[in-house]
Amino acid sequence: MPDMKEKFDQLQQVIAELKDQPGALMPVLQKAQGIFGCVPMDVQKVIAEGLGVTLSEVYGVATFYAQFTLEPAGKYIISVCMGTACYVKGSQKVLDKLSEELKVPVGKTSADGLFTLNATRCLGACGLAPVMTVNEEVYGRLTPEDIPGIIAKYRELG
Ligand code: FES
Repeated sequence: MPDMKEKFDQLQQVIAELKDQPGALMPVLQKAQGIFGCVPMDVQKVIAEGLGVTLSEVYGVATFYAQFTLEPAGKYIISVCMGTACYVKGSQKVLDKLSEELKVPVGKTSADGLFTLNATRCLGACGLAPVMTVNEEVYGRLTPEDIPGIIAKYRELG
């Protein structure tokens, strides 16, 4: 894994290569997302300076397109299904419990960097409603009471 300095060096290289092309901002952001896994503010600042555009221009593009994320994702990505079958069976309560347990709103990452909490469309496992996934693992027929135990398991793994 390259360290931060190497990543910023790579970014400078990308900027140098692309900056004279029209519409360089989009490809530079894509490369930056590839290098860092996200495009946080300090990365956006370097891009703005390097390309000679304003930070708000970079921010505007980075927030407009879903392919860009502004902060690093957690080690465990939790996706709670908000599709109809799951919703009817109480997935909102499961989501609320997760939000309370992790102390994060939907779309955010917990302070310890372990969990990112997302709401998602139908996961294709409606028979198990309500459903959530933690990375690749599927959890079905959930109740809010199941949540603390599941989270504790991942906290133990660290
Ligand atoms: S609605 Fe949740 S898995 Fe289909």
